Parts: sequence; C-alpha cells; structure tokens
Amino acid sequence: MYLRKIALRNYRNYDALELDTDSSVNLFIGPNAQGKTNLLESIFTLALTKSHRTSKDKELIGWQGTDAHVHGEVDKQYGAVKLDLMLSAQGKKAKINGLEQRRLSDFVGALNVVMFAPEDLEIVKGTPGVRRRFLDMEIGQVQPGYLHTLQQYAKVLVQRNNYLKTLWTSGGDKQGLLEVWNVQLAEFGVKIIKKRKYFIQKLQQWAEQIHAGITAGAEQLTVAYKPSFDIEDESVLFDHFMLKLTQVKDQEIRRGTTLVGPHRDDLAFYINGKEAQTFGSQGQQRTTALSLKLAEIELIREEIGEYPLLLLDDVLSELDRNRQTQLIETFQSKVQTFITATGLESVDLGKLQDAGIYHVQEGRVTR
Ligand SMILES: Nc1ncnc2c1ncn2[C@@H]1O[C@H](COP(=O)(O)OP(=O)(O)OP(=O)(O)O)[C@@H](O)[C@H]1O
Ligand SMILES: [Mg+2]
Repeated sequence: MYLRKIALRNYRNYDALELDTDSSVNLFIGPNAQGKTNLLESIFTLALTKSHRTSKDKELIGWQGTDAHVHGEVDKQYGAVKLDLMLSAQGKKAKINGLEQRRLSDFVGALNVVMFAPEDLEIVKGTPGVRRRFLDMEIGQVQPGYLHTLQQYAKVLVQRNNYLKTLWTSGGDKQGLLEVWNVQLAEFGVKIIKKRKYFIQKLQQWAEQIHAGITAGAEQLTVAYKPSFDIEDESVLFDHFMLKLTQVKDQEIRRGTTLVGPHRDDLAFYINGKEAQTFGSQGQQRTTALSLKLAEIELIREEIGEYPLLLLDDVLSELDRNRQTQLIETFQSKVQTFITATGLESVDLGKLQDAGIYHVQEGRVTR
C-alpha cells in the first residue's frame, strides 16, 4: 500500500500540515525537537488509532487546541481509501471514506504500518509487557476482531480480580461465582492464545530467515512463545486453562489477582540457542529487534496480500553498514518507507534511489 497524502491539524507541534508523500522512499531531515518523530507517529496512529510511544491520547493533541485530526489518503491493491482519525478529550472517532466506524477496531487494519524506532530494543531487553504490546499491536493489524477480544478479556480480568479481592475478606467463594468468571476468562483467553500461537509461529519462520541473512548465516534466531500454562494441544486449551485456574485458586485469593492467562504471556528470543535478553550483546539485541520488524513486514504481506508502510525513526544512523544495506535492500522497491534523520550524512543515499527529501522545522515540512 501507498500513502499518497497526509494532513494534520493540531497534532502535537503541527498546527496544519498538508503533505504529498508521493515517493516510495521519503526522508525527513531536521534538527532535534522539530517534529520528525511526531510526523511518523501520526502515520502510526492513523494505522492503529494509538501512538507507538504513549498510551495517553491526550498527549497527541496540540497544546493550542482541544482536538486533533489526522487525515491520510492511501492507495491499496483494491482501490483508494481516505482515512480520518479525530482525537479529543471525549475520545476518538474514525472514518473510512467519510463513513464513521462504529468501533475503532473496525478502523484498524485499513492502513498497515511497521515502525522501527530506537526504543524497539526494549522488545528484546524490556519487560514481558513490552513484548505483549508488540504482539498485540501486530496481530491487531492483520486479524480483525483480535483487539476487540483483547478488550473483552481485559474487562473480565478486571472484574475477576475485583471479585478475588473480596474473597479474602468474605472467607471463600461461597456462591461459586468464581467459576462463572473462570469460564469467561478462559473463553476469551483461549481465543487470544490461539491467535498469538499462530502469529508467533509465522514470526519465527520469517525472523529466522531474515536474521540469518543479516548475520551472513552466523546466527540462528529462534522466537518462542512462553505462555503461562501448557498450550501444546489446542483441542484441550479451554480445559487446561480451567484446570490451571483451579490449581492456583488459593494462591489467587491470597494475592487478590489472576495468576494465569494471556495477560501473563511472554516471548523469548534465542540466538544460537542462548537467550538474547540475558546473553546477547547490544548489537545482537539490536539485530534481533530489526529482524523481528522486517519479519513483520513479510508477515503482514502474507496475511493481507500487500506490503505495509515502513516507518524508520532515527534508526539508520544506529546501524552499521551491513545492517543498513540489509535493511534498505529489504524494503527497496516494494515497501513505501518513511525515514527520519537529523542529517543526511548518516544515510547511505547511494542505496536510496529516488528518495523524496523533506526538511522538518518547527512543525512545518518543506521540500
Ligand atoms: N501535544 C503537543 N503539542 C505541541 N507540541 C508538542 C506536543 N507534544 C510534543 N510537542 C513538541 O514536539 C517536539 C518534539 O517533536 P519530535 O519528538 O517529533 O522531535 P524530533 O524532530 O523527532 O526530534 P529528535 O531528533 O530529537 O528525535 C517537542 O519540542 C515538543 O515540545
Ligand atoms: Mg525523534
């Protein structure tokens, strides 16, 4: 897919921006704090209705106003779409071709993006929560309904946790209400686990191949799902979940919180059999993050039939020449790419044919 145009109103430090993005490689150059990341973030937000760097939508609204508007025009395999996302203190509204979507999750997926930014190193180094977020964002883009299931699961989880907290003082589950929460938790939970399992298998296949390419065959990357209970046999997932809940019941009541389920899932990355999070060098961890992102591009193409946009925030300068070359060769001519950098010197322009070069200054963009 191809983003032809992006327009912003009162988004972060952009008062009003209208930009034709008609190159397949678009390079945004400017000093610090001028709005380069903000611009990529707006494209990401248009795709996922959420920023990649904050969960507080309020932060996206420009300080001078009360609401923000992101508009994009996208050419896709089966036609052009116009996308609108409005953010205000009251919440978000999204339109496809002028038609307001009943649920935001119906809007997600109309535009697909993969963002690679320095903080993605956290996918390897950070907490399980970071990895779950990575998974969820990616699955949500290609699997309609996934985000909705996640929300339903989260709702049940909150209610079940609240109920667990009352059980400690009331001396146990006299009405057997916990069983009711268990069934709901397991029903939504199983759906999430199945999707994650499928997605991680695909991710593994692509990431291993790409990582081997980047490291000239020296490193084998393995991506593994680390669920909170045994999920090997999918036909008995629900029963396993329910059984596990029974086993940890006393512990859960004591601690007042749900101890098994996809909210406790994790991912592990191994390089030549050794866990990258613990044993990987900084460079290996960075390559791992890059391989995962490049794998995502292929995975999205496989699932939806066309390539997503690639957003590269401030990362080219952090990669050595080999990895820059690998990255550029992967996306060139098939993936529309948006790159930010503080200066052109860090970018291997020889490899970037026909790049559109833009200058970013104080929330304004010029060619
Ligand atoms: N809600 C907002 N309203 C107005 N301005 C904002 C808002 N949020 C952030 N900013 C401004 O945006 C600027 C940061 O923009 P951005 O993060 O895009 O910089 P950048 O060009 O990517 O810089 P760097 O090269 O350092 O990464 C900050 O100066 C900040 O003051
Ligand atoms: Mg930035």
